[in-house]
Amino acid sequence: MRHHGQMHAQPGVGTCFDAPVQVKADLEAGEATREGMPPAPEPDSGRPEHGYLPATSFRSRRSTLSGAQRQTWERLWPKLGMSVGTPAEGGPRRGEPLDTSAWFGRRAPVVLEIGCGSGTSTLAMAKEEPDVDVIAVEIYRRGLAQLLSAIDREQVGNIRLIRGNAIDVLEHLIAPRSLIGVRVFFPDPWPKARHHKRRFLQPATIGLIADRLLPGGVLHAATDHPGYAEQIAEVGDAEPRLCRVDPGSRLPTSIVRPTTKYETKAHESGSAVTEFIWKRR
Ligand SMILES: C[S@@+](CC[C@H](N)C(=O)[O-])C[C@H]1O[C@@H](n2cnc3c(N)ncnc32)[C@H](O)[C@@H]1O
Repeated sequence: MRHHGQMHAQPGVGTCFDAPVQVKADLEAGEATREGMPPAPEPDSGRPEHGYLPATSFRSRRSTLSGAQRQTWERLWPKLGMSVGTPAEGGPRRGEPLDTSAWFGRRAPVVLEIGCGSGTSTLAMAKEEPDVDVIAVEIYRRGLAQLLSAIDREQVGNIRLIRGNAIDVLEHLIAPRSLIGVRVFFPDPWPKARHHKRRFLQPATIGLIADRLLPGGVLHAATDHPGYAEQIAEVGDAEPRLCRVDPGSRLPTSIVRPTTKYETKAHESGSAVTEFIWKRR
């Protein structure tokens, strides 16, 4: 399963040679607007100085956690989760990289999943790779609560959760050359031209991700939006520290992901999914 998923990746551009990967070495409160999915972040000029997502912020909403979700949250969040400067919560900003070995209680390769939604891919992929530690970042609290409940139900030990803006997480909590993988599945497409600047995958964020990946580490992205797919291809291929790899290549972490509800809906509405795999040189 690890290296041969049903992939829809584009043919390699600037293909990397297979390099040995240092796998173990260096080592809201949200109202869902459709089932299982959070509301899109709302524009806000609250952080105009931000270098990566200049005009994007997230509006605060009432929590919609069920009673059971709330109980699980209260029991497990202090151990498995942390909040990072979420505007809605005004949580603390951390000034030094996370000690992932201390948080997970072991030394293992670490993958960061950005915008995990309700965590369908996070859970399935973590279960498939028990020797890899997965940090899921999301701003949507109910999605994180759903994932937390699933972790509890299925007793999955290799997932930790961060509530906050993934840019802050990458900037402040993740050390350079520390990740074997970064996953960005179906980032908000912001289809209107005037909103394209709010898209998560743009040159500065791709550069930040490349900086946080170990040599040989993998950036795996997928989108069902053709215009965003073009942009992702362009900025990813333009990042000199990344090179496109064939999905059949030997990779240090799985690229096999389950089909989420979001993706099923995309298929039903006739949208093709484009998948991207880059490797850090
Ligand atoms: C379209 S959903 C996709 C969810 C999931 N990856 C899937 O495939 O079902 C995009 C998710 O990214 C989250 N998101 C958007 N910008 C984010 C950011 N800067 N940091 C963390 N999460 C973000 C949103 O809250 C939303 O849950």
